[in-house]
Formats: sequence, structure tokens, C-alpha cells
Amino acid sequence: MNIEGSKTAENLRRAFTQELMAYFEYVNAAKTAAAAGFNLISDIFHQTAQNEAEHAEHEFDFLGGADDIRKNIQAAIRHEEESVDFYKNTAREAQEEGFDEIAAFFERITTVEENHKVKFEELLETFDSNGEIKGRTVRHSALTMAQLMLPNQANPAGFVHGGELMKMMDNAAGVTAARHCNSNVVTALVSEINFYHPVLVGSLVTVNTRITFVSRSSMEVQVELFTENLESAERMKALTAYYTMVAVDNEGHPKPVPELTLFTEEEKQLLDEGTDRYNTRKERKSRST
Ligand SMILES: [Fe+2]
Ligand SMILES: [Fe+2]
Repeated sequence: MNIEGSKTAENLRRAFTQELMAYFEYVNAAKTAAAAGFNLISDIFHQTAQNEAEHAEHEFDFLGGADDIRKNIQAAIRHEEESVDFYKNTAREAQEEGFDEIAAFFERITTVEENHKVKFEELLETFDSNGEIKGRTVRHSALTMAQLMLPNQANPAGFVHGGELMKMMDNAAGVTAARHCNSNVVTALVSEINFYHPVLVGSLVTVNTRITFVSRSSMEVQVELFTENLESAERMKALTAYYTMVAVDNEGHPKPVPELTLFTEEEKQLLDEGTDRYNTRKERKSRST
């Protein structure tokens, strides 16, 4: 089916853009509703957004789709190159018009897009040489675990023991670290433990994890624990911590782990904070020995 040059092709491109905009607007509307505690409204926006994304995907397929991996990587390089040029110009124009904050934002984005471009260029090289992809993204190992809190995990007043929660967090951090390095891991350190809210029996506890920093053989995992009251649907952050896990071989000796491939500004910031914690600990250790 050749639709090139037809009115329908043009309509498909317009429809695609409109669906993507609707998707973005609804995802943001969902976030706003969730932050204000309107979870049911948030669900409706999320679900509708999902549906708009599916519409966009169908339209994209009619327009030729993206079923060739190599071509997709090449297109990504071109796209990122265009973004770099575009943001360089917009930063300058915003500066000329006196919008300093927006100019600074465009400048920051220029650097991020340059990084995207480099990552895709490296990826193309690896893909063409049939090489091994060495780094792992944060997304690769991030996970969510959920569990209902039962009476045997709590004291007589119905409060879940901190140790039970930390065990769940340790498990989730361990799985995330093992997913990153594909080997056995052991917990080396737990830091910055913060209790924000007690957890009651009958609550649904959800643990979210993501890697923030890796050294030669250790991985720092950010762990956030949420508690949800199933009757009121109220959900709160209850506990957060950083778990440092070490990859070990079959003899229990530390072994190297893959590097962390970063894409977003938030990931970069978390890495900087993790690096600071790592260096501070190293300094303290070397002073005390
Ligand atoms: Fe739609
Ligand atoms: Fe980009």
C-alpha cells in the first residue's frame, strides 16, 4: 500500500502529532491529579493516555513504522543531531529576548541531546560490529515489589516492624543489583535510612528500586517504600534508604560490574550524589585505618 503524497498520508501525520500531544497532556493531568490525592481521576487520565498512545502507534505503522533496528538507530542519530542544532539556536534566541531562565534550560538540553547522539553513535558501532553492549541502563534493573502486611510482621499494636520493612527493601535492592550485574550480590552497607510514616497491618507495601551509582564491583540502589491503606486508598512514602550491594563470584570474591549508562538529567544528578557518598565513605575509611 503506497500512501505517499496522498491526503490520507497527510492526515495520518496530523493525527499522529495530535495523539502524541493528547498523550502528553493526559499523562501530566494524571500526575497533577495523583499529587493532589485524586487517584481515581489520575487513573482515568492514565488509561486514556495509554489509549491515545496506541492510536499514535497504529498511525505510525501506517506511515511506514520502524521495524528495522539499524535504520532506527540511524534515524535516532539524525534526530538527536537536529535537536542539538535546534536547541543551540533557541538558547541564543531566548537569550537575545531576555528570557534567561529559558535560555539556560535550552543550553542544558543541548548538552543532554549531544549525549543522546553520542550514545546512539556508539550503539550503531556496537550493532554493526556485532559487539557486546557493555553498559546497563537504570531502567534495565529498576523494579517494583508489592506485599500485603500480615499480623505476624507487626507488634501487638498493629505497627509493622522496621526490620520486616528493611528485609523487603534488602530483597528488592538485591534483585535490582543482581539484575544489573547478572551475578550473586551481598549487602555491604545501608545508608541514609529515613522513616517518614508508620506502616500498619493490612496495608499494601510497595517498594521501588533503581541503581544510582556503580563503582568497580559495588552498586548503590535507591530504595523507596510506600504504604497504601486499602480501605481509604491513601498512599504515603514510609521509608527510604540507599543499599550498597557488592557483586561476588562463586568463591565470594568481589567481581566487576557493568557500567551505568545514563540518559536523563535526574539519573546524572543521582549519580553525582551517589559518587559524593562513595567518596566520603572512602575518605573516612582511609582516615580510620
Ligand atoms: Fe485518540
Ligand atoms: Fe534526545
